[in-house]
Amino acid sequence: MIAQTPTQNSNQRRILVTAALPYANGPIHIGHLVEYIQTDIWVRFQKLVGNRCIFICADDTHGTAIMIRARKEGRSEEALIAETQVHHQRDFAGFDIQFDNYGSTNSPENLELCHQFWASLRAAGLVAERDVSQLFDPEANTFLADRFVKGTCPTCKAINQYGDNCDKCNATYSPTDLIDPKSTLSGATPELRSSKHLFVELEKLHEFLESWTQCGKHLQTEVANYLKGHFLGDPLRDWDVSRPAPYFGFEIPDAPGNYWYVWFDAPIGYIASTWAWCKANGEKLDDWWRSDATEVHHFIGKDITYFHTLFWPGMLKTAGFSLPTKVHIHGFLTVGGEKMSKSKGTFVKAETYLKHLNPTYLRYYFASKLGSKLDDLDLNLDELISKVNSDLVGKVVNLASRTAKFANKTGLSSTYPDDGGLFEAAAKAGTAIAEAYEECDFAKAMRLIMELADRANPYIENAQPWVLAKSPDSQQALRDVCTVGLNLFRQLIVYLSPVLPKLAEQCGALLGEPITSWSQSQSPLLGTQVNPFEHMLARVNPEDIQAMIEESKQENTPEPTAPADPWNDTADALNAEPLADECTIEDFVKVDLRVARIVAAEQVPEARKLLRLTLSLGGDVRKNVFAGIKSAYEPEQLIGRLVVCVANLKPRQMKFGLSEGMVTAAGSGGDEIYLLSPDSGAKPGMRVH
Ligand code: 2FM
Ligand code: ZN
Repeated sequence: MIAQTPTQNSNQRRILVTAALPYANGPIHIGHLVEYIQTDIWVRFQKLVGNRCIFICADDTHGTAIMIRARKEGRSEEALIAETQVHHQRDFAGFDIQFDNYGSTNSPENLELCHQFWASLRAAGLVAERDVSQLFDPEANTFLADRFVKGTCPTCKAINQYGDNCDKCNATYSPTDLIDPKSTLSGATPELRSSKHLFVELEKLHEFLESWTQCGKHLQTEVANYLKGHFLGDPLRDWDVSRPAPYFGFEIPDAPGNYWYVWFDAPIGYIASTWAWCKANGEKLDDWWRSDATEVHHFIGKDITYFHTLFWPGMLKTAGFSLPTKVHIHGFLTVGGEKMSKSKGTFVKAETYLKHLNPTYLRYYFASKLGSKLDDLDLNLDELISKVNSDLVGKVVNLASRTAKFANKTGLSSTYPDDGGLFEAAAKAGTAIAEAYEECDFAKAMRLIMELADRANPYIENAQPWVLAKSPDSQQALRDVCTVGLNLFRQLIVYLSPVLPKLAEQCGALLGEPITSWSQSQSPLLGTQVNPFEHMLARVNPEDIQAMIEESKQENTPEPTAPADPWNDTADALNAEPLADECTIEDFVKVDLRVARIVAAEQVPEARKLLRLTLSLGGDVRKNVFAGIKSAYEPEQLIGRLVVCVANLKPRQMKFGLSEGMVTAAGSGGDEIYLLSPDSGAKPGMRVH
């Protein structure tokens, strides 16, 4: 399809675009951003050419992982997903990814739509019920998804392998095949338990899915071939869409105690989020999801192909919603040719990137690498530096920075000067550039745009406005050269604006007319003022990249684990005096321990070890006590302090007088004597329990 310009309003397309709903149990990272930047560029392009386009997304909030994490963090799932959503939206905004609506799958709209889909599936006779045996963690009280079971690989005997496949020998198996399985939630040995599950019988939709996937319109060729080769040649397996409690999700109305599996309600979330947008904008949901006049485009990664090309069309068809016009599938992100790695610092969170680098860099870099195929995209950081510095700073912004300051004094000429056909040729190139955007071949679009920049720059170099500026006789020539330079700059920026919205804003501010339409690339701006030039884009500083990688490494370095016993106490005291025989609580309560204040303390000259203490238990109650603490305490130190005394000890007549109780102390004697004192707040007379 060729992009239409806004003047052709009768041809205006209505387009609904979605990107995959990110899980609400983790942060957005640069791997995610490939898709959101890709989709945002496509949406901005559609809006720029005058189509009616909305970009819909939401957090994917249900499932075991979120339930378990909330449990671990001691908070509700709702609190967890609310916090994550704030972070996701902040990160997307930081990369200029602009949604028309960002919702949540845990919404009333989604609940209602799930009911509708379910009723349709039931009515179509597509729901079957079967018992499923699954591992159950008796301590965490939950059935265990494959990822929550680890054990020894039944094939190669490698230890510590997940319940679905072995990363040593790549064998795939069921978690019940693992040797010595353990729940990763509690460490408990899981038990096999049977429970009722509900299945969607996808095979009954085989014929429809065969024709929808193979008609050549909705899927990239390699995707259609993959489905044909891997799935459509055999009967389609029933899809297990229920999970028994406990599960964080929506309860199935006609199967109490069972919940829709997260992958059932997640794609319905696309419609739910659209519905929330409709409610807020006075639109009708049916115009967007039950109308042939609306195109629906999903952008996803290749890992979730099956859900979006078989389950989802099957569900949409059954429930009477529009089928996707196109599912655009992209590959994964690698960094420096390898999988993103936490230890190498290449698993970079969006938030961390933004602390160090300008989002414009990554948007441009991804655009320059994204094709319409499923190839993985490699982020090579040296290449990012050179592309941004040479293309954007060196070729594009350069056109403005070399001309704007002169044009600020003169304004733009009122007729377009002879530029040797540059503007016109570049305007013509707009068709091929728009086609490349439309086809999601952004790499080609960027290549074509940079070819135009390569032609524009020599014009400025030859015309040398900085030389013309010095000669009073050349002012008209200077004005003309700047008019050409700035118009070629603006034309490039219109073409780049889906990728670089910030730069487009700056260009609009410089030339006094915002960039809002593709058609602005087709005719020059003339006779207007030029505002003072403000710095537009700094070169990438390699040190900032290094700092980002270092910070990502740090974030992923596990906190040094505290030693099991950080105090490292010796057992000497206990060994010297082993525990006494057991006593009962009745024995213990016979001893009336009280908080007391030492109100007087004095030496007992005749005694080697004793001090004479007067204890107050509050009010007028005083007790005279001889305490064997002389070796460790001076009387003056003691006056006023609180101690714990045995208040009902039978009085004992001693050589020096009557002792009416005992103060408690720890230690082996000598100067190793430590009086016990209560925490502050305790008052004389309080009983110690
Ligand atoms: O793979 C994922 O990250 C899923 N949360 C994507 C869901 S997309 C849609 F179906 F909701
Ligand atoms: Zn193995």
